[in-house]
Amino acid sequence: MQNSKARIAVFVSGGGTNLQAILDAQFSGIINSGKVCLVISSKEGVYALERAGKAGVPSLVFSKKKLGGQEAFEDAIDNALKEYEIDLIVLAGFLSILSAEFTKKYDHRIINIHPSLIPSFCGEGFYGLRVHEAALSRGVKVTGATVHYVNEIPDGGEIILQKAVKVCDKDTPEKLQLRVMRQAEWIILPRAVEMISRKILNDKNAKDAE
Ligand code: GAR
Repeated sequence: MQNSKARIAVFVSGGGTNLQAILDAQFSGIINSGKVCLVISSKEGVYALERAGKAGVPSLVFSKKKLGGQEAFEDAIDNALKEYEIDLIVLAGFLSILSAEFTKKYDHRIINIHPSLIPSFCGEGFYGLRVHEAALSRGVKVTGATVHYVNEIPDGGEIILQKAVKVCDKDTPEKLQLRVMRQAEWIILPRAVEMISRKILNDKNAKDAE
């Protein structure tokens, strides 16, 4: 039998506006080759969990601290991914770094959204508002967002999609963050999710037909 949708898990740690963009794109048909089947959060009580609940998507919270370290944290995640038969992991504001062992296990099965034009303002320590603060202090006139595959190097995997966004004279990090989200992240992330879901699905169906 043909697999009809790639099964997606979205990993979050905060407000979840990128998760919302994916759910909306699924609803409007921009995402047609994949389906969000699970949301995993590294933090309790974040608004992204409410968004999952409202969309009827099951969610799980795994705390590295409570589980006693990276290995136990990743084992728990891995078990959940197996249970839900996940094909594609989307990091959407997920603030925990995944180990080389984990990223190798899911090679070309994990994508991430980063709020700058990689290779600028990326790597360890560059997340959320800090990225926009760094862009403003450097005085760049153009920034943007990048969707890339995740490998063992933070923000170092193959680039899938990028979109540029103008920096304005009176920008604050908060203003710039919102513009980058609206004009880039919420557009290219759903687009990349559809592209990669379709690819995974085609590969899966070709393998099943062998
Ligand atoms: C987004 O801007 C995302 O690009 C960024 O965190 C924010 C999460 O917002 N991710 C990183 O900085 C990763 N290095 P959200 O929870 O509203 O989607």
